[in-house]
Amino acid sequence: MRTYLVTGGAGFIGSNYIHYMFKKYDNEIRIINVDKLTYAGNLENLKDIENRENYTFIKADICDSEAIGKIFAENDIDRVVHFAAESHVDRSIKNPEVFVQTNVLGTAVMLNAAKAAWELPDGTFRPDKKFLHVSTDEVYGSLPDDDSAFFYETSPIDPHSPYSASKASSDMLVKAYIDTYHFPANITNCSNNYGPYQFPEKLIPLIINNALQGKNLPVYGDGKNVRDWLYVEDHAKAIDMVQEQGKLGERYNIGGHNEKQNIEIIHIILETLQEMLPEGDPRKELVSEKLITYVTDRKGHDRRYAIAPDKIKAEIGWYPETMFKDGIKLTIAWFFEHEDWMKNVTSGDYQKYYTDMYKDR
Ligand code: NAD
Ligand code: DAU
Repeated sequence: MRTYLVTGGAGFIGSNYIHYMFKKYDNEIRIINVDKLTYAGNLENLKDIENRENYTFIKADICDSEAIGKIFAENDIDRVVHFAAESHVDRSIKNPEVFVQTNVLGTAVMLNAAKAAWELPDGTFRPDKKFLHVSTDEVYGSLPDDDSAFFYETSPIDPHSPYSASKASSDMLVKAYIDTYHFPANITNCSNNYGPYQFPEKLIPLIINNALQGKNLPVYGDGKNVRDWLYVEDHAKAIDMVQEQGKLGERYNIGGHNEKQNIEIIHIILETLQEMLPEGDPRKELVSEKLITYVTDRKGHDRRYAIAPDKIKAEIGWYPETMFKDGIKLTIAWFFEHEDWMKNVTSGDYQKYYTDMYKDR
């Protein structure tokens, strides 16, 4: 039985990945989820699997080398899937240090601990041990509006925000371990995810939540920045496929071939909400294009991201399966069914975050 050490498994993509893996492998694998439970980590995301015998949660900080070393010493870890990070660009613009701490130092701690556990006296590694570093397309910087340009694995690394600079640094550390020690790792660079359990600081859940309450829908700048949206379960599947079938030492881009301007996304959400809300539901009156509010742009706002997923398709056979029109319905349906989840994550600290982040816009 393979043992996985998943970091950041209580966050958005990590929790979707854990659900996906248990759905796929059931009792053939064991998962240890290590998460510090920051504002973004939520054990409610894992409620339906928390009692599984092949699942363990450990609350720990990935920057704590002693705690991470202990987990490797006590468990024969076969796979590391490293999600844990500070993930929100706007927060990184206000407070960059914690991004360097968690994303760079935390990755160094994870790499060091895995190397110490897996390295043999002759400097080679124990067979069938693998580390996957989950990264972002933002490390490649920004593309022009011209829709013929794409990010490839060979594109120059050119991050702009403190978040993307910290992720690019962590990618470079993983590359350094691969190049220096022949450490058995892969890096994946994925585009924007959406789906269940996404924290409403990110565009799609924020717009869904605000629209249902008749609150303003803040659009940064001219609303024409482009993101390449991927349904989160497709990302989870890609991570598993890269880890099992990818060539060790390689980087793989993951993307949805689904480029949309932010303003288009907002219109689609409003239309889909109207379609899905039953007649007579009081929220139907609130959901309106009149809520769209253009606000001050994000500092250093990257214009366009677009992934060319050619390599992962050709070498591994992965492709994005969920069309945006279907994925957004699944996402909205999930939020309808999980009103308490949204209420819980938007009470308390979130209100302060929202006021601070949007007051000057
Ligand atoms: P998230 O913010 O929802 O979750 C991050 C998780 O990491 C949380 O559970 C949090 O508690 C945990 N964490 C944070 N600091 C920690 C620390 N010091 N020690 C242990 N745990 C810690 O993030 P997400 O959107 O799920 O992103 C997960 C990963 O995927 C990140 O590495 C991110 O860079 C990458 N990524 C995200 C997207 C996206 O669209 N969201 C796209 C591509 C790549
Ligand atoms: O590309 C992958 C990245 O996608 C991940 O690495 C990051 O972790 C993830 O947060 C995401 O980054 P973005 O900055 O692209 O996502 P966000 O949801 O914050 O914003 C999406 C777009 O919407 C972006 O152009 C900014 C805009 N936006 C966002 C918010 C929160 C608005 O116009 N209004 C908003 O209120």
